[in-house]
Amino acid sequence: MTTPFTIERIADHVGERVTVQGWLYASTHKGKLLFLRLRDGTGITQAVAYRPEVGDELFETLVRLGQESSLIVTGTVRANEKAPGIPAGYEIGIEEATVLQNAIDYPIGPKEHGIEFLMDNRHLWLRSSQQWAIMRVRATIKRAIIDFFDDRGFLNIDTPILTPSAAEGTSNLFEVEYFNEKAYLAQTGQLYSEATIMAFGKVYCFGPTFRAEKSKTRRHLAEFWMVEPEIAYCDLDELMVLEEEFVSYIVQRTLEQRAAELELLERDLSALRNITPPFPRISYDEAIERIQAIREATDDPELKENLTIEWGDDFGSPHETELTKQFDKPVFVYGYPTAVKAFYMEPWPGRPEICKSVDLLAPEGYGEIIGGSERMSDPDVLLAAIRRHELPEANYRWYIDLRSYGSVPHSGFGLGLERTVAWICGIDHIRQTVPFARTRNRLTP
Ligand code: 4AD
Ligand code: MG
Repeated sequence: MTTPFTIERIADHVGERVTVQGWLYASTHKGKLLFLRLRDGTGITQAVAYRPEVGDELFETLVRLGQESSLIVTGTVRANEKAPGIPAGYEIGIEEATVLQNAIDYPIGPKEHGIEFLMDNRHLWLRSSQQWAIMRVRATIKRAIIDFFDDRGFLNIDTPILTPSAAEGTSNLFEVEYFNEKAYLAQTGQLYSEATIMAFGKVYCFGPTFRAEKSKTRRHLAEFWMVEPEIAYCDLDELMVLEEEFVSYIVQRTLEQRAAELELLERDLSALRNITPPFPRISYDEAIERIQAIREATDDPELKENLTIEWGDDFGSPHETELTKQFDKPVFVYGYPTAVKAFYMEPWPGRPEICKSVDLLAPEGYGEIIGGSERMSDPDVLLAAIRRHELPEANYRWYIDLRSYGSVPHSGFGLGLERTVAWICGIDHIRQTVPFARTRNRLTP
């Protein structure tokens, strides 16, 4: 059986007669020649109609087609180094064509549109080449994530989306009515993965997570995908080694498989090629000193204002952005103040004001893509933390149990898929990295 023709593989079909089932991306008309740019979902190619060959009737029909008309074209593939496309350098000489629908007045044209208009038309905008490229990169990153963990003996264990209580703070929970009780959409699968590592050793969960983020930023979605590996008998140092290998693997795999898409997005590929272990490691204490030094040195009053920070404060986007500009690789910041992090993180030995947490901040100003930590392994220390955070103790009984029956040092992290896609694609807003973004002010389409 021969596999059906796709534009993606056009280079393998030079000289062959092929059929494309697709849509019209654009067209230009010069005398007896008509150049159609056809897309089939896998790529874009030029299809050329020559009036004396296709006849007047078909030629006129094709000339009148609007952008995004659906049609089936049959013709012979030839190399033409001047032909645009993804991949470029090939075209199809049209012999036959059937129009399924002539699309009239497609709302998205080559002219500039405002972002809200494009987001309102997201169901159509996904057909545009840049959005198409981003989604192809996203799919490759998802595949790389799964392969990385599967190849290293992690078991993929799913965690629930409906949960009785919070794990990542109570201020951004989505509440739902669960029969006659309150439930919340999961902010993370981590707590459940801590249970499953005691059964399976190394696990990961990978799925949608939810945060009712009140603020509108370039980095926050209300629904986003997170991959969360969790490992028994793993400390903070071992966790960082795993993270740098993981992130490097994703980046290099994407470069191998999606270079054309990244080039279409005008991504600087050399910056990505540089992403290999080891990554720099700095403590929170050092990060504060560095940010304060940047603040001292700048003449920009607005930046000075935005970089105001004292030991004990959490980082905001401007702090992360300026700090990461000092490095050409992702940078680990470890040992954050206990007060700004989630309740479950292991205290730093001898310094209870900080914890065994580590964030990974992406370069080029992208900021935090991973949050992780070593987890508390002592049941009494954990219970005290749950009380300090005023969490409903009864809902966490099972979680404390994990520390009562064969407790071990253990660690894990969560990588946000959309922030990773934004960084690898080099696009500045996270809303374009997910097919249908969910944000404070958007639930449609
Ligand atoms: O740092 P966070 O909140 O960590 C956790 O949820 C841990 N339970 C993970 C773990 O240790 N298993 O979130 C982890 C990552 C962030 O670094 C970021 O990439 C992403 O999830 N993230 C978001 N992405 C998009 N929109 C949001 N609102 C996000 N909140 C977190
Ligand atoms: Mg975080």
